[in-house]
Amino acid sequence: MVYRPESVWEFSTSKNITFGVGASAELSDVVAEYDAGSVLVVTDEGVADAGVLDDAVASLDDDSYTVFDGVEPDPSIGVFEDALAAAADVDPDLVVGVGGGSSMDVAKTTSVVHAHGGDVLDYVAEPTGGGDSIPGPGVPTACLPTTAGTGSETSPVTVISLPDEDLKAGISSRHQRPDIALVDPGLTVSLPPGPTASSGMDALSHAIEAYVTRRYDAKPAPDRRMDRPDYNGRSMVTDQFARTAIEQIGNGLRNAVDNGHDLDARRQMSLGSLMAGVAFTNAGLGATHAIAMATGAVQHTPHGVTVALTLPEVMRFNATSAADRYAEIASLLGEDVAGKGRNEAAEAAATAVENLAADVGIEGGLSSLGIGDNDVAHLAERASQLERLLVGNPRRVTRDDLEAIIRRSL
Ligand SMILES: [Fe+2]
Repeated sequence: MVYRPESVWEFSTSKNITFGVGASAELSDVVAEYDAGSVLVVTDEGVADAGVLDDAVASLDDDSYTVFDGVEPDPSIGVFEDALAAAADVDPDLVVGVGGGSSMDVAKTTSVVHAHGGDVLDYVAEPTGGGDSIPGPGVPTACLPTTAGTGSETSPVTVISLPDEDLKAGISSRHQRPDIALVDPGLTVSLPPGPTASSGMDALSHAIEAYVTRRYDAKPAPDRRMDRPDYNGRSMVTDQFARTAIEQIGNGLRNAVDNGHDLDARRQMSLGSLMAGVAFTNAGLGATHAIAMATGAVQHTPHGVTVALTLPEVMRFNATSAADRYAEIASLLGEDVAGKGRNEAAEAAATAVENLAADVGIEGGLSSLGIGDNDVAHLAERASQLERLLVGNPRRVTRDDLEAIIRRSL
């Protein structure tokens, strides 16, 4: 058959993005807009105890909302099931996720599984789960991020840990994109320096991987629209989001870590994280996330730190396939690339990322997370199975390549 290249890109995000200091106080207006007599707030104990919710829920009627605060980092399937049980009790008209990626992910999946029935595992891809697709929209969902990193507030993906199998599984569906992203930089001011640094480096990695991922037309056309992958390659539109995100994060991260109350820096980070999320959830990611997902599942390493320590060596490996793009990234991160050749400029981008990570306290390589020589082969094997992430990597990457990248990142 004659090769038919893809000639179309798609771009989706939340129906609404509301951004700015004070945006979270508009939650009561959102509740009214949806005429929601019953609201389920999904969060974690830390967020609930820190009073982050107080302003947002202050204007809601006490008997109109229920708080489920059982979310944990890297939530296991049991957490998702508990949240669903809470939803069954109150039959919400609106689900609100408040917190980091974990709380927002649990909120998103609760919304669709509550609406359509079945078990969470039914919707996880085969062979781990039943492979059912989500048939339609869930309960309307609003997400309020309290970190600047995951981009979950607009993404169609949720990540579920299956601890018995050392596996992280995902559910991906356009119906999991939240209806409303209420992004309030003010909600991130109490985030301590460590999580600010790691979530910020995660956001930077989303923007960089989305910017260099393969272009939408570098793959065969799907037979039907519905067969087009969620990660459908970079386009002029995702490029704009990624570029701005890289610049914002490059400008804001050091100051946000230095002084959490620096609202300008927090605003830059929230905007950068949001825009990086919009970019990667349309364009796709690459080898950094394949390695980080495998390492997170097997060794339970924190996601943001893992990507920060892996990204520079992935950039060096990819440089020959996307040198011009990496040169632009160097420049967006404030490096002077004038007079530098494309390879030298691409190297400057990797160094700039390494320096930024070190400046915010992330250094020492993957070995600082307890990963040793003996772990490398297994991690490479596991990462090589993450085809959904690797297919977009700008340079073809084999199991052996992954092993070499991980080894250099120790
Ligand atoms: Fe990430």
